[in-house]
Amino acid sequence: MKPIILGISGASGAIYGIRLLEEMKKQGIETHVVISKWGSYTIKAETDYCIEDVIGLASFYYEDDDLAARISSGSFKASGMIIAPCSMKTLSGIANGYSEDLIVRAADVCLKEQRKLVLLTRETPLSQIHLQNMLTVSRAGGVIAPPMPSFYTRPTSLEDMIDQTVGRILDQFDIPFAGLRRWEG
Ligand SMILES: Cc1cc2nc3c(=O)[nH]c(=O)nc-3n(C[C@H](O)[C@H](O)[C@H](O)COP(=O)(O)O)c2cc1C
Repeated sequence: MKPIILGISGASGAIYGIRLLEEMKKQGIETHVVISKWGSYTIKAETDYCIEDVIGLASFYYEDDDLAARISSGSFKASGMIIAPCSMKTLSGIANGYSEDLIVRAADVCLKEQRKLVLLTRETPLSQIHLQNMLTVSRAGGVIAPPMPSFYTRPTSLEDMIDQTVGRILDQFDIPFAGLRRWEG
C-alpha cells in the first residue's frame, strides 16, 4: 500500500499516535511522521516513551516547521493522513486552510488531493468554534474520529480501550488489526 502520513499534535492522547505507529511498523507500512512541539511535550508528560523512541518507529520523520518536506506537496503519493491526537488548534488550522506548520499543510494537501484524512480530535467539552471547525473539515471530506471508548467490548484495561480505537482508525485504511473486537450482534 501507499505510505501513510501520521501527525501527532499537542492534544491529550499521544499514546494513540504511538500505538498506531507501532502497529504500522509491525505490518511493514511506510510511515511519514511529524510531531508538533506540543505533541513532543504530551509524549513526555503522558507516556513512558521518549521522543527518540517514537521517531525510531517512523520510516521517515520531519520537523513540524519544515514546510519544504516532501509531504507538503501533492506530488508526494500517500494513501492519506492520520492526526492522532488532533488538537483544536491543529483542527482550526485545517478548517481554515491556515497551513503554517507541516502537520496542517500535509492535511491541507490530503483534502485538496481528495485523499483520506482522519482526525482523532480531542477536547472536552467542545465549544461552538470546535464543533464548527469539525463540521467544516467533515464537509471538505475529512473523517472526524474522536477517540471514544467502546464499552460494548467490555474492556478490562486501558490498553484494551486504546487498541479498540486504534483498530477503528486502521479500519479507515483497510489495515487489519488483531486487537480490534467487532460487534457480532
Ligand atoms: C498536557 C497538555 C494537554 C493538552 N490537551 C489538549 C487537548 O486535549 N486538546 C486540545 O485541543 N489542546 C490541548 N492542549 C493544548 C495544545 O497543546 C495547544 O493548543 C497547542 O498550541 C497545540 O499545538 P499543536 O496543534 O501545533 O500541537 C494540551 C496541552 C498540554 C500541555
